[in-house]
Amino acid sequence: MHFNYPQRFCVAAYRKKTTLLVVSGLSVLILFGLEYSRLEENKISELMKEERDAQVVADALMKSINVKFIETAKRINKDQDVATKIVTELDEERLSKLEQPSRDEIARRRAAETVDNNQFEILETEQQLGIPYVNLDPKNPYIPKKRIVHLDLKGAPPILSYFRKLFPLIKVMGATGVLLEYEDMFPFSGALKNISAKNAFTAYDVSEILKLAEESKLEVIPLVQTFGHVEFALKHSEFSHLREVPGSPQALCPSRASSLNFIREVMDLHPNTKYLHIGCDEVFQMGECDVCRLEMHENLFLKHVKTVADIVHARYPHVRVIVWDDMLRHISQQAMLEINIGNLVEPMVWVYAEDIYRFVQPTVWDKYADVFKTAWTASAFKGAFGETLYVPNAKRHLENNLRWLDVMATQASAFKQGLMGIVITGWQRYDHFSVLCELLPASIPSLALNLITVTYGYFNSSLKEKFLSALSCPMQNMAYGSPFISLDADPFLWDKLSRCMFPGNSFFRLTNRLHNLETEAREYLDITKRQKGWMTSYNVRHNYSLPLRVDELTSDLPRIYHGMVMIARSAVDAMVDVFDNYTISEWIEQRIYPYIIELEQIQNQSIALKSVNHWPARPLPPLRDLQRLGVTLN
Ligand SMILES: *[C@@H]1O[C@H](CO)[C@@H](O)[C@H](O)[C@H]1NC(C)=O
Ligand SMILES: *[C@@H]1O[C@H](CO)[C@@H](O)[C@H](O)[C@H]1NC(C)=O
Ligand SMILES: *[C@@H]1O[C@H](CO)[C@@H](O)[C@H](O)[C@H]1NC(C)=O
Ligand SMILES: *[C@@H]1O[C@H](CO)[C@@H](O)[C@H](O)[C@H]1NC(C)=O
Ligand SMILES: *[C@@H]1O[C@H](CO)[C@@H](O)[C@H](O)[C@H]1NC(C)=O
Repeated sequence: MHFNYPQRFCVAAYRKKTTLLVVSGLSVLILFGLEYSRLEENKISELMKEERDAQVVADALMKSINVKFIETAKRINKDQDVATKIVTELDEERLSKLEQPSRDEIARRRAAETVDNNQFEILETEQQLGIPYVNLDPKNPYIPKKRIVHLDLKGAPPILSYFRKLFPLIKVMGATGVLLEYEDMFPFSGALKNISAKNAFTAYDVSEILKLAEESKLEVIPLVQTFGHVEFALKHSEFSHLREVPGSPQALCPSRASSLNFIREVMDLHPNTKYLHIGCDEVFQMGECDVCRLEMHENLFLKHVKTVADIVHARYPHVRVIVWDDMLRHISQQAMLEINIGNLVEPMVWVYAEDIYRFVQPTVWDKYADVFKTAWTASAFKGAFGETLYVPNAKRHLENNLRWLDVMATQASAFKQGLMGIVITGWQRYDHFSVLCELLPASIPSLALNLITVTYGYFNSSLKEKFLSALSCPMQNMAYGSPFISLDADPFLWDKLSRCMFPGNSFFRLTNRLHNLETEAREYLDITKRQKGWMTSYNVRHNYSLPLRVDELTSDLPRIYHGMVMIARSAVDAMVDVFDNYTISEWIEQRIYPYIIELEQIQNQSIALKSVNHWPARPLPPLRDLQRLGVTLN
């Protein structure tokens, strides 16, 4: 059949009707937004004319922006529900092009712009945004096929209602799936029942999480540790006989345990999964027990991985098995080929520091490409630069992810089937016994930056609107002449993103407050206990100080103490929509309570020091305890 041109046009238009609908809907939104902002500007300039002070203007600006923003966000949310269903990835790309204003429109806007506005545009080069320089090919960005967000549930597991908000959010930012590391949050049953934490998810919770993931079209890959990092099981007396080293719960003895039960239970609740991640990283203790001592390390490791992979494949023939790669880095190519590990598992090569090749050298990549048909990579958006951090340094994580794009672009072609994709990890503890590191809601901005980066293969100001709208940030409130992020001055994104309304934003802001207060408290403690000469441990031990000086040193104490108490209380409000009470309590105890105690100690010491009214003659008696050091002066 042949169509003439107008007919063809109509048919094409008909075929693309959903796209057109969405496009016209969005244009209306944009026009509405422009109109609205013009109204806002008028309102604000009136205020200026009235010569109110700058604070009033700023407040009004904030308020109007917030109201407008929330309204727009509501509308966009509704539209998005419909839109995400229809718009395929290709359409999305086309859309983003169509969303750009036409040349005429740009010219018109340019003409209307003041010098300030031009300056605003100039100020958004990659350098000014603070984007780390990595030598990527601008013509041909490498985009990992699968872009998986790692949820480490062994610390601070979010409650179900937060998953409900999180999944659509990461979908919009370009995620294709999640890697769920349950650890003791998995509802084990039968002989393994006691391994589950007391607040573990129920089987129902797990099915809800999977349902929510499916609604957002996110693939779910479960992760269960089967070698090292099984502290959560081996810490219990019932399972301690499976340890490699009797005194340490870190690693399983591969000669005594097969991990079959672990796998069966996890797979039962993930019947449709295509992949199972069996961990196997950081097996610190290997070949130490009586049974294993005779075997070579690399054989021990490979044999255990093979045993576990065989168990998985025997029961679930279509499931592909993933392992962390770090133990493989030092194993010879020959040993790997002999046991045919390449047909059993897919390695997930993880490096969270900036310099990937420092940890996985090109020779290791060559070895992997010879042994395996494909591989995965793993970067990080949090939980990689310090066990006790409470907010991630987005700039460092961005550099890690950009460099991964570079490495992936180079290495992909060496593998027969290319690279499967990247997992952006978000560690929540360094191991089962460690304290909590950066919590998820404080790390959403870093996640957005990094996920959008791997989704497009780069990050620069052309992704500004995607980034800000994904995080529900008001678009109009960026000060003229100031870029929308500036990672050098603001690597935690506190300054630029404090007004965004993403799920968990109030906790993100709270970490900023905590940072400021913590800086003040640390300085106070250091000055009071170490720098000044009247409340040192010597003064306290000998009850010997000048009350006047003690008063001086404690004059700031009530204010800082009050601040800490207030922030502990605000933390509850900021976290209640994300975590259960155990996590809230744990975080407050780890991050805030130590300051409360230390400040109280100073308060108590000051009372003791000031209650002395008569002092002994000098010299004060030599300290008896010095004798322990072999210093016998009395
Ligand atoms: C952003 O980077 C992409 C890919 O390198 C490039 O095509 C685009 O022109 C850049 N945009 C800006 C505003 O720098
Ligand atoms: C779980 O722990 C309880 C209490 O310590 C114990 O009585 C029970 O036997 C354990 N269950 C299993 C299946 O080992
Ligand atoms: C958790 O803490 C909140 C706020 O203090 C309280 O209202 C609630 O009852 C607690 N929940 C449980 C299950 O204890
Ligand atoms: C300070 O003194 C009070 C009253 O004696 C006591 O209850 C509190 O535990 C003390 N605090 C610390 C941190 O020693
Ligand atoms: C310091 O002296 C006060 C008053 O005599 C007394 O109550 C307090 O117990 C003393 N503290 C120490 C640490 O000796």
